[in-house]
Amino acid sequence: MIPRVLFRRFADLKSGRSSAVATRLQHSWNYEDNGSQGSRRHKQQAIMAGVIGAGAGVALWLKYHLTADAASSLLVTDKEVAEYGEYKDGMPEYTLEDVAQHDTADKRIWVAYRHGVYDITDFVQEHPGGEKILMGAGGSVEPFWALYAVHKNPHVLQIFEKYRIGNLAADDVGAMVKDMSDPYGNEPRRHITLKPASMKPFNAETPLAFLADSLITPSELFYVRNHLPVPEVDAKTYELEIVDETLDKEKTIKLSDIKKYPKYTITATIQCAGNRRSEMMKVKPVKGLSWGQAAIGNATWSGARLCDVLKDMGVDEETTDALHVQFEGLDTDPASMPYGSSIQIEKALDPRGDVILAYEMNGEPIPRDHGFPVRVIVPGVVGARNVKWLGKIVVSKHESDAHWQQNDYKGFAPNVDWDTVDFSKSPAIQDLPVISAICVPEEGETLKVVDGKVTLRGYAWSGGGRKVIRVDVSTDGGKNWQAVEDLTSDPARHPRAWGWSLWQAEVPVKEGISETQLCVKAVDSQYNTQPENFENIWNLRGVINNAYHRVNVKLAR
Ligand code: MTE
Repeated sequence: MIPRVLFRRFADLKSGRSSAVATRLQHSWNYEDNGSQGSRRHKQQAIMAGVIGAGAGVALWLKYHLTADAASSLLVTDKEVAEYGEYKDGMPEYTLEDVAQHDTADKRIWVAYRHGVYDITDFVQEHPGGEKILMGAGGSVEPFWALYAVHKNPHVLQIFEKYRIGNLAADDVGAMVKDMSDPYGNEPRRHITLKPASMKPFNAETPLAFLADSLITPSELFYVRNHLPVPEVDAKTYELEIVDETLDKEKTIKLSDIKKYPKYTITATIQCAGNRRSEMMKVKPVKGLSWGQAAIGNATWSGARLCDVLKDMGVDEETTDALHVQFEGLDTDPASMPYGSSIQIEKALDPRGDVILAYEMNGEPIPRDHGFPVRVIVPGVVGARNVKWLGKIVVSKHESDAHWQQNDYKGFAPNVDWDTVDFSKSPAIQDLPVISAICVPEEGETLKVVDGKVTLRGYAWSGGGRKVIRVDVSTDGGKNWQAVEDLTSDPARHPRAWGWSLWQAEVPVKEGISETQLCVKAVDSQYNTQPENFENIWNLRGVINNAYHRVNVKLAR
């Protein structure tokens, strides 16, 4: 018999209370009918179907995220995975029913993985915890890992083996994943040149040199940052729920209703908070995907202004008590919670803030990976707030309580580590600071010196609608600088310059040297510039990686 698994808040689990936050319905993961709005909420409830027993996996997932060097081992072979959870001679045997008896701290928390049974109570107790930590126990973690394949890596599996207490009865091995379809079985097709940082969920960046080729990044080359499987949404049945908690009002609108509002088109850069994290990681490991310099892109976005849609709900900038606008995606996590985040009401209601419920990217319907059929574009603001597959908007006195608003995408001082971090002490990242990167040449390349000069190309951008007013480059590691003359951007001006600038420079190099370090830094319309190095801005999550970009090259004469 497959045990029924309850998901509960970490606090409940610690206290041994077995009151579940929610008992999830058991359904198999099935994309076929996912488009109908009627089935959507049901779907979100049902996602747990495939994730029975995943809560303990969540704990390990978080442990994995909290472990600094884990990000380097993202991709794992089946052979490596098979090395763990093997049958071990001389250990006691347990059935899944035995495992199910151990689902709270006072009864000890057990989970199964392949042939292994594990008691992870001590690990769970020591975990720093947080809002998002929902626990399931007394089941198999395999369904969870089917959803979060990225966390099934040797590092996590090694941690797991430390908690091994026995073997799972042969009849029960694999029982919980037998009828489960792959949650990533219906992902969109992707351009072959995208450079994956992880496959499940899919995360990939544009080949760096391509970024500098065109002011507008082609949609199929635009970086992808997904936390979960891509939902398949049918535009014909798509509905967007809008709630104003302060006015006690709610309504549901269709895509056709959104299209009735005046259509606005803006050019906006979207950047992941972790862009350029791989450079920060060289100072000291951090938690997160090892992004290069291309988790950023610039596109045109068309749709209805959020302020117009909210005005129709009766939300009035002068009189509203609301302080935040929350967004929920149609993609859900192992505890059936949607991806979510929020922005401040001032940005949401400002007609010049240009927040858009976008249904087009670069003049075409938004591709599935980027939020089809509707995503919110919050220009100037970190990528995480630009919620894709938008399912719900909530006007509220409160920020979103989603993990990605509360316990992620926040910055900390360099001395804060995973033992001392308190996410409630730091505000969620909104407007991003000024950043730049050299796209051509790339690290380690050999660069042709022509007439004593080398050619560099790259991007520069600042959040909050600030325009890049100057880009400085150096060919001697930052001792001497010169401003680039060729700086291109769309005509938008501060404080509504949402798009990036591309730049190109021909810069002299010292005679007689065969290698050097190139550097770039940008200045925005408020005369902010970039920090000199990563040592002083290091943070445990590896966000806001905007120190000078330094590229070491060889020189050919
Ligand atoms: N919206 C949903 N629903 N789910 C997600 O995983 N990822 C966020 C944001 N919106 C995400 C989301 C993050 S962290 C980033 S950086 C951007 O989407 C990436 O947008 P892109 O994939 O279109 O480049």
